[in-house]
This record gives sequence, structure tokens and C-alpha cells, in this order.
Amino acid sequence: MTHQVLVDRRRLLQLAAASASSLWLPRSAWSQQRFAGNPFGLGVASGSPTHDSIVLWTRLIAPGVLQSLGKEPVTVRWEIAHDEQFARIAQSGQAQALGELAHSVHVEAAGLEPDRWYFYRFMVGDAVSAIGRTRTFPAPDAPAQKLRLSYASCQRWDHGYFSAYRHMREENLDAVLFLGDYIYEYPNAAKAVRVPTGGWVITLADYRQRYALHRGEPEVQAMHAACPWLVTWDDHEVQNDYAGLVAGDTGPPVADFASRRAAAYQAFYEHMPLRASVLTKALAGVSSGAEYRLYSQQRFGRLANLVMIDDRQYRDGHVCNPDGKLGSSNISPAACPAWNDPARTLLGAAQEQWLDAAFASSGPGWTVLGQQTLFGPRAFRKEAGDVYWNDGWDGYTAARTRLTESLQRHKVANPVLLGGDVHENWVGHVKADYSRPDSATLGVEFCGTSITSRSRGNQYIAATVANNPHFVFADSEGKGYGVVEFTPTRLTTTLRVVDDVTSRNTKISTLRSFVVEAGRPKIETA
Ligand SMILES: [Fe+2]
Repeated sequence: MTHQVLVDRRRLLQLAAASASSLWLPRSAWSQQRFAGNPFGLGVASGSPTHDSIVLWTRLIAPGVLQSLGKEPVTVRWEIAHDEQFARIAQSGQAQALGELAHSVHVEAAGLEPDRWYFYRFMVGDAVSAIGRTRTFPAPDAPAQKLRLSYASCQRWDHGYFSAYRHMREENLDAVLFLGDYIYEYPNAAKAVRVPTGGWVITLADYRQRYALHRGEPEVQAMHAACPWLVTWDDHEVQNDYAGLVAGDTGPPVADFASRRAAAYQAFYEHMPLRASVLTKALAGVSSGAEYRLYSQQRFGRLANLVMIDDRQYRDGHVCNPDGKLGSSNISPAACPAWNDPARTLLGAAQEQWLDAAFASSGPGWTVLGQQTLFGPRAFRKEAGDVYWNDGWDGYTAARTRLTESLQRHKVANPVLLGGDVHENWVGHVKADYSRPDSATLGVEFCGTSITSRSRGNQYIAATVANNPHFVFADSEGKGYGVVEFTPTRLTTTLRVVDDVTSRNTKISTLRSFVVEAGRPKIETA
């Protein structure tokens, strides 16, 4: 590993604060750099919206290649306007693209008007970026009649093309919730549709290169430029099935997993429209390894509260793996005394407390929880008895129960759990006690399929849904995304799937649509 290029976390914070501010400009940065071509080859993005601010993102790279620019800082100008012609500029400024942060730019445009669409772009020398479109949310106490979100996850390069995003652009969305596995760390897949460059992804340079590969894709760029994204991560942004500071099970082992994780987290920050406050929390730190505080909540007027959580960074290791095995396993709880151990955590104590407080003050409308994976139990029937996958909520049963108890204690209005990770669509009810089908239904769950990543196929689905009656639908073949439209009286979820993930020009269709009325957590087929 090239540890020497990793930035110390305190320094990282200083850099992020400096790069977000237009005040701090080192002399060298004033010299306007000229490029032989366009350094905006990775496009633009926006995200982490509030009612009056938004993060605008870009990253400069060497023109024409997906390569870093070197070490020198570069001053980037930015504009945010009311119109696509930039005739009515709302704000403009300068930001630092620093070599230490891969020349990424995170502008936190503040003091914007609520509930407005804006256009933005970046300039350096005589180069101008693509134009992005973004929006602020309605003020927290403002009425809002409609919110259209997409939830998406799991975009493995070697499994296909990101064509789903071409169709997502037509969905007229207010925001995208990306729920993890933006990249994968693998060098290649069996029967790869295409092979990513770079081999195993382990060092900071590797992670940067893999993100650049994805951001070089026109479909990905176009969707980032279409509306703001709220992002969290899952395991493959670091390594398959890692847990907290316990390494996962794929690829060459590294001596210092905490350093690998820190490199991966830094590259994630560099490529996502995240606030510098994600790094501010790094000063509070965890026992070892810098903390990146991804969990957050944001109201969309009185219509919805969007809560995003992180189920990877703080979790305990997998329970009852066979001796010495890293990663995940299918486990029989009957043979695992620690299965329901109340001391085990998926979110970590601090985030769990924060989430409980978020639920306590969640407010009116819909409470949308963007998290990584399937929430409800999924028992696979085997002759010797049911087994469960110990990487998901099933491996952290006490943590799941604490979450459902928190929903009940605070009488959370209309909980809607969105997830990813399993590469399959799962639709179901959130139950007070999953072992008792007649127990109270607290909310609904839509766990989404992958953008490209493979799944095992539908042969096991019918029996597994029947074995887990809180689920009303599942499908293990369609690849794509979900769209949820919220109004004050109902939500409508549409599962959108592409015909052929191995084609750049695939069509899309609707697999299924579901409706849930506000105040009545019962999933109906639309
Ligand atoms: Fe995945």
C-alpha cells in the first residue's frame, strides 16, 4: 500500500474546509492554469441538499485520460444560476482543487431559495464544465405536494453497462438515494461483460482510479447532472463483507486494514457530493481509523423526512462464522448461541442513539430511511432447519429489534425503509415482531435490485417468500432501480427493470407497482 499518500485526518479536515471556502487561496493557485483539453472529464454532481444549500461537486483530471493532475492546487470558479443560459446568476465564487484531495471540488452553496431548481457549472482557465441541474428542498415547515425519489445500488462494472441511468433521467426525479456499492473492488468477473482497468482495488490510487472509471461513464455523469444525490456506502466501497475494522474476504490480504479503509473512505469523499462536515466528525474519531460521518437527515417540507444511515463503518464482526472465516456465511441460529446477543451492533451505539433521536423528532409526513440492505428476516428453508445470511440485518437481530422498538416508541409517522445490497427486489411489511405475522405492521420496506450486479435467479424466490410472509413480492432477475413518488395521502413505488444489462442501448419496463396509503401501512398492488 502507498500509505504515504494518505492524508492525516486532521489535515484532511483543514483541506476540506479550505477547499470549500473561497477565502483561502494560496498564491500558487492564483496562476490560472491552462489545459490542452477539458479537465472536467468526470462531469459534475450535486448532493446533500437542504432547503437553502447544496453541495456542488467536480474533480479535475488530466484532459483525455482518467488520470490525476499531479500535486499543484488549482483555482476553480463556479456559478449557480436560475436558468440554463446562466443569464440570472444566483451565486458565484472560487474553490480550491487540491492535489491532496485528488483535485476534487466540494462547493457548499448556501443562502439559496427553498424549493427551487438551479443550474451550475465550473470553470478553470478557458475550460467550462458540463452544466448540472439541481434543487433545494422545500423549507421544513412548508407544505409540499410531491416528492419523486429513485433508490439505486450495486453497480458492478464487469457485470454490465449503466444504461439504467439513461432511463432514470426521464423519471423526473427530485433526488436519487444511492444506497451502496457504487464501485466494486474486484479485478474481474467470470464471464465479464467488460473488464475494469487496474486489477484489485487496494490503495488510495486504486480507489481513485476505480471511481474515475465509473464517473467517466456518460450515463453516470448524466444522472449526476440531472438532480441531487444523497449517498451512503456499503461494503464494496472498501472490500466485500468487511465489518467495521474487521477486513472482508476478497483479494490479497493487507497488513493494515484500517489504513486501507481510510484510503477507501477518502476516495469516496473525493468523488461524492458530500459536505465537509462528513470529515469534521473525524476529529471525534473512533478508536482507530478516521470516522466519516455519513448519517444524516433532511426534511422535504412537511411531506417527508429523509434519513440516511451507515450500516458498515461501526458494525460488529459477523456472528458464528466457521473458525477463522472472514466475510459472511449462512447460519443456523439454533447452532449459534450469540445470534440474538443484545450487545451486538450494526449501527454502533452513537449512530443508534442519533437514529432514535431522529425518530423521536421525525415529524409529519413520511419517514424515509435510506439504508443498505434487506431489513426483514429472510429465512432460507433447508432440510435441517432455516438458515439466514449473517451479513444483513439477519445477522444483527437485536439491533433490528431496537430499531423497530424505536419506531414504535416514538410512533413514527409512515416509516418507509429503502435498501439495496441483495441485487434483488424485495417488497414487504415492517413488523413489530417478525415471528408473529399477526403482530402490528409498523411500516413498509422496498429493498431495491442492482444497477448491474448479478443475482442468482428466480428459482428460489417463491419458496423463500412463502417462508417469510412479511414479504409480499420478490424478484431476483430484473436489474434497474425503484422510483417512489410521495404525496400527502399515498406513496407509489414502481420497480423499473432493463431488458438487458449487457447492452448499452437496452429498453426499460415496469416490473411491478405498489401503493401505500398514508396512515395505513399496507402494501397494495397498483
Ligand atoms: Fe452489491
